[in-house]
Amino acid sequence: MEQLLNSAEKKILIAPSILSADFGKLNEEIATVESHADWLHLDLMDFHFVPNLTFGAPVIRRIKTGLLLDAHLMVEHPETYLEELAEIGVGSVTVHQEGNVHLHRLIARIHELGMKAAVALNPATAVESLSPILDDLDMVLVMSVNPGFGGQKFISLALDKIRWLKERRPELLVEVDGGINAETAALCREAGADVLVAGSYIFGAADRVAAIESLRK
Ligand code: DX5
Ligand code: ZN
Repeated sequence: MEQLLNSAEKKILIAPSILSADFGKLNEEIATVESHADWLHLDLMDFHFVPNLTFGAPVIRRIKTGLLLDAHLMVEHPETYLEELAEIGVGSVTVHQEGNVHLHRLIARIHELGMKAAVALNPATAVESLSPILDDLDMVLVMSVNPGFGGQKFISLALDKIRWLKERRPELLVEVDGGINAETAALCREAGADVLVAGSYIFGAADRVAAIESLRK
């Protein structure tokens, strides 16, 4: 019964990705989603790990928000970013499974600095690869597009990964990122997702608040 109540009351968290916001007026853009969003998703890209370049600590430092800062590191050598992100007050750091040989050490370092630790999986990466470190994680970020750009189409390989993770460790947060709109959000929620990242769907909408709320229904 308690379980049923919990699942009925489960709140889905919405994390707008500022990748699709106007970087020329970032704080004004964030203010338009502040009251209805739960987290703020920050995509750090370095033109090496992914073929796109965004921002790093100097920009994040200037962000004015009360929302939890959810940093998604699509960069080489993510360990070199951690101390500064912690000092700025970032709440959650996601590093990729791919390309990080010392993933276990990286997770330990994120925790040591007082932040929540998550690992992201590209569409072609098997979810089972996380088995050995599942207990060390606060969250898994399931990529539903190939990382690097906003506005791409949802890849449904993500759904089985969400189900696998929630069956294996129900209390682990599962975040989904890429191609999220009202339709794909419903599929992710049904599969058990806890956090939905959306960039173009929210920042491209005429009514951003309505767009956020449509992801919860
Ligand atoms: C892509 C980023 C996403 C991106 C999602 O690499 O990780 O966070 O902003 O954009 P949409 O929601 O437009 O697919
Ligand atoms: Zn992201």
